[in-house]
Amino acid sequence: MKILAIETSCDDTCVAILDNQKILSNVISSQIDLFKKWGGVVPDIAKRAHQDRIWPVVNEALKRSGLMKDKDGIDEAMKKVDLVAVTQGPGLAIALGVGIDVAKELVTKYKKKLVAVNHIEGHILSNFLKNRNGKPNRKIKFPTLVLTVSGGHTKLVLMKGIGKYEVIGQSLDDAAGEALDKASKMLGFSYPGGPIIERLAKEGNKNFLKLPRPMSQFKNYDYSFSGLKTSFYYQIREWKKERISKRAKDLAASFQNAVFDSLLIKLSRAIDGLKPKSLLASGGVMANLELRKRLRKLAKEKGLPVYMPFKKELNTDNGAMIGIAGYYKYKRSELIKKVDRLERQSRLEL
Ligand code: KG4
Ligand code: ZN
Repeated sequence: MKILAIETSCDDTCVAILDNQKILSNVISSQIDLFKKWGGVVPDIAKRAHQDRIWPVVNEALKRSGLMKDKDGIDEAMKKVDLVAVTQGPGLAIALGVGIDVAKELVTKYKKKLVAVNHIEGHILSNFLKNRNGKPNRKIKFPTLVLTVSGGHTKLVLMKGIGKYEVIGQSLDDAAGEALDKASKMLGFSYPGGPIIERLAKEGNKNFLKLPRPMSQFKNYDYSFSGLKTSFYYQIREWKKERISKRAKDLAASFQNAVFDSLLIKLSRAIDGLKPKSLLASGGVMANLELRKRLRKLAKEKGLPVYMPFKKELNTDNGAMIGIAGYYKYKRSELIKKVDRLERQSRLEL
């Protein structure tokens, strides 16, 4: 079954073509350059950028997948597509709307089936994606414990099977990626902060600044990152710019280490409490090599297999993750029956 999947929940315009679980193409048009000077995403600008880019990205994804031959247009290519999947939420409402409108147009014009996908389920199921050769062929054992960390959310999910999720803990305020983005801004760097902090932290002293590990004393599995951010802010707010830039590597390493400690303290506790058979991780922050290394180490200590998306770019937002979630929704017969009634849901729960 060929799936065309659309993701426009934040600042990436993404379209992927899948053949069941296999990625045939995965085109991402990033808007990062538009938002560097603002230090974060501006919804109106994101919406306009999605509108300008979405059709060229649809065409590019069809071409790269091989479904659209050089001589053909979109009409011929769409004959080979069986299902359209689109992100319904959570995300920026006006950005989501662009993808949903295009999905409706494709489904109505070409008489295709439609599924609406939860963005977070997409991040989780990105671990089930395969390349064109059907690799990796993972046999993930359930229940599995999933750590999903991005700019919009930080969640611990107990997954009993595909489609069966129980959120056992989450951030009560900022997401981990959001905290990294804000710390980068405080250090005078641009957006998105996660990769910048990662680069600086490599050569920094992680014990330079004493920072809290918020909520680590509580027995629940919830997170909080706003107190950490505030503590960071108060410790450097009197500093002159020159001093901050001289110490940027140490500051980045200290902040990143506090965020990762917080993530792993709760994960470790949840493993002990819930006794899963495996671990999964996903979301933009999981693109971080230091976090991946630390997660692998924890999994080894606990004697559990751990899985992360098989390619770095499958951690951050992309269309393939929406396609795979759409594939499983189709298998569960969760099709949208009244296409014109499908609405974006900026606060959609998992
Ligand atoms: O999953 P994602 O692309 O979008 C959301 O659903 O939010 O995640 C974006 C977040 C941003 O906060 C970004 O700073 C962070 O992921 N991020 C990273 C890295 N790459 C992206 N954080 C740490 N290290 C990275 N290498
Ligand atoms: Zn995301």
